[in-house]
Amino acid sequence: MRLSLRFLIPLLLALAAFAYVAVPLADSLMQRWFVRDLDMRSNLIADTVQEPLSNLILTGSTPRIVTLFNRLLRDERLYAVGLCLQRRGEPVATPNFPRDIDCSQLGRFTPPGEHVLQASTGPLHIAVVDVDSESAPEARLVLVHDMSFVARRSEETRRYLFYFFVALSGAIALITVVIAQLSWRGWVQGLRALLRGEGILRPSGTATAPELRPIARDLKDLIRDLERQYRPLDGSQRIWDQDALRATLRSEFHSNDVIVVSNREPYIHVRSPGGVRIQRPASGLVTALEPVMRACSGTWIAHGSGSADRDTVDRHDRVAVPPDRPIYQVRRIWMTKEEEEGYYAGFANEGLWPLCHIAHVRPTFRSSDFEHYRTVNTRFADAVVAEARTKDPIVLVQDYHFALLPRLIRDRLPDATIITFWHIPWPNPEAFAICPWRNELLDGLLGSSIIGFHTQFHCNNFLDTVDRLVEARVDREAFTVSCRGQATAIHRYPISIEWPPEPLAAQGTIAEARRAVRTRLGLPSDHRVGIGIDRLDYTKGIIERFNAVARLLELEPQWAGRFSFVQIAAPTRGAIGDYRDYAVRVQSRADEINARYPGARHPPIILLAEHHDPVAVYEYHRAADFCFVSSLHDGMNLVAKEFVAARDDEQGVLILSQFAGASRELPEALVVNPYDADQCAAALHLALTMSAEEQRERMRFMRGVVREFNVYRWAGRMLLDAAVMRQRSRMRPFESARGVTAGPA
Ligand code: G6P
Repeated sequence: MRLSLRFLIPLLLALAAFAYVAVPLADSLMQRWFVRDLDMRSNLIADTVQEPLSNLILTGSTPRIVTLFNRLLRDERLYAVGLCLQRRGEPVATPNFPRDIDCSQLGRFTPPGEHVLQASTGPLHIAVVDVDSESAPEARLVLVHDMSFVARRSEETRRYLFYFFVALSGAIALITVVIAQLSWRGWVQGLRALLRGEGILRPSGTATAPELRPIARDLKDLIRDLERQYRPLDGSQRIWDQDALRATLRSEFHSNDVIVVSNREPYIHVRSPGGVRIQRPASGLVTALEPVMRACSGTWIAHGSGSADRDTVDRHDRVAVPPDRPIYQVRRIWMTKEEEEGYYAGFANEGLWPLCHIAHVRPTFRSSDFEHYRTVNTRFADAVVAEARTKDPIVLVQDYHFALLPRLIRDRLPDATIITFWHIPWPNPEAFAICPWRNELLDGLLGSSIIGFHTQFHCNNFLDTVDRLVEARVDREAFTVSCRGQATAIHRYPISIEWPPEPLAAQGTIAEARRAVRTRLGLPSDHRVGIGIDRLDYTKGIIERFNAVARLLELEPQWAGRFSFVQIAAPTRGAIGDYRDYAVRVQSRADEINARYPGARHPPIILLAEHHDPVAVYEYHRAADFCFVSSLHDGMNLVAKEFVAARDDEQGVLILSQFAGASRELPEALVVNPYDADQCAAALHLALTMSAEEQRERMRFMRGVVREFNVYRWAGRMLLDAAVMRQRSRMRPFESARGVTAGPA
């Protein structure tokens, strides 16, 4: 109902009550009170004049009687006085005595209630009182009072009543409006929320009626406290999905001020002959974080690296994504060619990447690269500050491109919760000490509230490195580092993928995928296919993988022509010489092995050195008999988990390097040492001959793990830990409490 109606209706009702009830009631009451009053007054006057009047009657002096009456008229209310000595005839009366009253009619004024005469001058009150006179036993005194003052009083009373009713009805109308607002909004929205399945309390983000805010806040606090008391702090017993993650953000942080920072952006706009095309990068980091952002909304700050990126942003360099159903913002950061070369290709990928991976490629450090690295980190810090909507946003800093960023943010947003995740391995202190800017990097990272790694081994390495190189208090029991008056927690959070993965929704049946892939590659329908999906990176062990295939064919030649290994290799970091060399070496190793089997109808190795989008990647996973992940060193490797997630038929074998973080979580895979070609060949043979039953048993286990330890749990556990840290930091430390309470000695 509209506000004005809510106000007007009570007002009109009150005014109608005034007109139809209050006024007539007041009029009649006043009339009755005044008549009674005048009756009493008349009796009093009659009593007072009784004696002189009976004397005058006795003397028979009419003029003196009139004189007495005229004296009585000094009372302004008394209008006229008359005396009837007999039951008929004219009364002895004052001049203005009403003409229409004669002595024969006095009877009509004696019954109660018949005391008012409507004369031409206005209403008159007539009181007839017997006079106690022996000489005239029938004598009656007629006292006529002017009642026009009653009308005047009534008028006045009516006016006051009117003001009173207006004020009263205004107040009632106001109260009605307020109450109606409260209950109507509350109930309607409560009902709507219930219908939406959200319960009576609204989620944060939707506005609470201002008048309900204090109550809502108290209730929410209460619910939150109860939840805190009854939930495990690490979230280990929760089922994690998008909703759980969203709810965690809401309940623990009351906000959706979430900012992700990574180098790689989730959607790249590229110019192509057919117009602007959107590309999804081949990046484990993006695969993991994209669903998290879809759950949390917020802003993702990343390098705008696509050729059409500048054409697709707004004036704040933002673009809403996913393009078909925008949920969050990508804020693009621009770099010059020199900056990109120095920061990304140089310091990050020629320096830190080989430094952190044991892949036997020497790191290269140049001071000019580090300067660009510092400049770009500062530019991202500016963007974080600009994008933050509150003074304490949640900032998720991703990876080795941004080791300096946490400190730069902390300096400008001291209350921010900064969770830094290092997606690649962390080396031992000796290896890390190679970096000329090791102290700057460690100091930068220790600006974080939490630093996360995939494995406990990498957490230990980090703590050892800090212990060796930085002046800080390292607590090996709590796994924290305290430095510059601030604590940073070091935790293990194994990253994962969303469950169920989005690209799965677009898939046909397994049989369709097998058919489609084999037809595309010109292979017969019963051809056995193994799959490898990677960026063309030297850490991925692609050459070792090919070596294993070659060894298989040496040891089990029956597979030649009946089995092919399909390697999808997305070109990556082409500006770096080591990567270009590696791409060449991979190609020539594949050619070399294929050349060994010139008579085979189908080559042992099919190398597809091009980018494939997630839906195509999932189709290959579903078409394959096994997937081989042979990283020489890898933080986690999400391809392994994607393969498991893609196989809803519970078939397919995963062969997994013991040097990939994923091997800690998926021991049901065939775990191998990629440097051991014989062992890998045996695993390939086992995979090609494994019974459907054993495949199912292993796959079921692995699917259970990936389903439960999905990326929502990864993000959710970090957020829960950050929430606990936030709460603890708000509590007064014992030392300061003592300082306050202790009196002077
Ligand atoms: C690794 C890194 C990620 C990076 C990905 C792709 O997984 O940890 O940070 O996004 O490689 O590399 P690129 O250099 O192409 O972004």
